[in-house]
Amino acid sequence: MDIIEAIKGRRSIREYQNRVVPKETIEKLLELSIKAPSGKNRQPWRFVVLQNKKKDELVNVMSNAISLLKQKNINIGSSELSINSINEASVVILVFNAFSNCENDYRRYTLLMDTQSIGAAVQTMILAAQNFGLGTLWICDIFYCVNEICSWLNRKDELVAAVAIGYPNQSPSPRPRKLLQEVAEWM
Ligand SMILES: Cc1cc2nc3c(=O)[nH]c(=O)nc-3n(C[C@H](O)[C@H](O)[C@H](O)COP(=O)(O)O)c2cc1C
Repeated sequence: MDIIEAIKGRRSIREYQNRVVPKETIEKLLELSIKAPSGKNRQPWRFVVLQNKKKDELVNVMSNAISLLKQKNINIGSSELSINSINEASVVILVFNAFSNCENDYRRYTLLMDTQSIGAAVQTMILAAQNFGLGTLWICDIFYCVNEICSWLNRKDELVAAVAIGYPNQSPSPRPRKLLQEVAEWM
């Protein structure tokens, strides 16, 4: 697939068909994702692929954490919708920053750099997914229950993002974008 076509055609997909994404396709996506550039070539990304029972467990962990927040009247944003998308998707990939919790001298700029690198890997993954007819949702609603997810998986590194992947069951119109003049200046 043409890269411009992939960039223009990508949408966040929140509804998925009840159809399994083959393991080989997920492996290909991960292979492409790790071709992303990274600051100092540190490749800070670590991926945890969840399907079937493990994905169901994630949905439970998240749902329980979110109901506790709701009981306490704490804002839960769009997390219930995101949990629903994870539930429908064939696979969810959690993306961790390998370095943010284990390096003693982890400065703000290193964190910014590693976070950008992880963003590049996620963007590469979701664009590549287009080529396989897959829809994706980049999810940060995981932050509402990040401690619960990390302790469930017994991970000490930092959870940065989740990506739900599956065959789309919707074809949303493009979401609006600011005008280029509003976000870019020429000097
Ligand atoms: C860093 C990041 C975090 C996001 N987190 C969520 C999320 O938790 N739940 C959700 O439904 N969408 C999430 N999205 C998707 C955005 O809402 C979406 O990209 C935006 O509305 C533009 O729509 P489009 O992706 O279809 O162009 C996230 C996107 C990014 C880049």
